[in-house]
Amino acid sequence: MLSDKKIAVIGLGTMGHAVVNGLLRSQSVNPDQISATVRTKPQAEKISKDLGIKCLTDNVDAVNDADIVLLCVKPKDIEKVSENLIKKGALKHNPLVISIAAGTSTGFIEGIIGQQCPVLRAMPNTPCFIGKGMTVVSKGSQAKDEHVALAKEIFSTMGRFTELEEKHMDTVTGLSASGPAFIYLIIEALVDGGVMRGLPRQIATELVAQMTLGAAEMVLTTGKHPASLKDEVTTPAGCTIAGILVLEDGRIRSVLARGVETAAKVAGELGR
Ligand SMILES: NC(=O)c1ccc[n+]([C@@H]2O[C@H](COP(=O)([O-])OP(=O)(O)OC[C@H]3O[C@@H](n4cnc5c(N)ncnc54)[C@H](OP(=O)(O)O)[C@@H]3O)[C@@H](O)[C@H]2O)c1
Repeated sequence: MLSDKKIAVIGLGTMGHAVVNGLLRSQSVNPDQISATVRTKPQAEKISKDLGIKCLTDNVDAVNDADIVLLCVKPKDIEKVSENLIKKGALKHNPLVISIAAGTSTGFIEGIIGQQCPVLRAMPNTPCFIGKGMTVVSKGSQAKDEHVALAKEIFSTMGRFTELEEKHMDTVTGLSASGPAFIYLIIEALVDGGVMRGLPRQIATELVAQMTLGAAEMVLTTGKHPASLKDEVTTPAGCTIAGILVLEDGRIRSVLARGVETAAKVAGELGR
């Protein structure tokens, strides 16, 4: 389905780049199927040269012939960008609109652009950049299964994909979209532990990153409960359980869970 679709990516910042890079990397679309926008000409010229896609500074030009419009600007800019598109008649052909803005409901966007265009709300994450992303999508009032199928085709090129009811999207934001930052922090802290014990930082970083990858793959591929996988590592009276007790003394579980809870609450306050 994607092979004959034109995709407009409005706001080619961190996430816009991750999505475009994921799409191009998978070779599911050709560069000439993608048009993107940024705010300044020099930025646009550099992106066109680097990625081989059409990069413009006028959102209306980018959207005019697009089948799919991906809104990748910050939540605070969604209203202004959407109002401008509707005012200039750029959505008259009723493309599928997919917003990745945190905390911004499909109802809010429909309130601006009307109910002609199907709207989806998507929450990807930065690992989409390397094809290891996690994206969750929910439907707006006019979106149908065929639109979700199209979103699935797009985001599956850059990782895993699932659909959920919109009521879960702020939680998804605090979990799998903010989550990479939480994991980087944990990786950095574990590396510090190795460095404290005398490992060179570069080696410690490789050890921790590969270990994190392996542990995540174990959860996904075995389907076992994480507690059961943890039990497989902890020999009675061994070193791992000794380390775990120190982490538990520091309330690591509730700290991490509360981190997600707080990120989700703040996500809900970012947009509308
Ligand atoms: N970062 C994440 O991990 C993540 C994960 C999931 C979802 N999201 C969501 O993704 C969206 C983008 O986040 P981000 O981190 O990628 O932000 P970002 O790096 O600031 O990207 C936003 C881009 O939009 C551009 N922009 C602003 N106004 C514009 C306009 N009127 N027309 C065209 N382009 C415009 C910005 O240009 P300037 O640089 O010139 O301002 C910037 O390049 C947000 O809504 C966020 O909630 C982010």
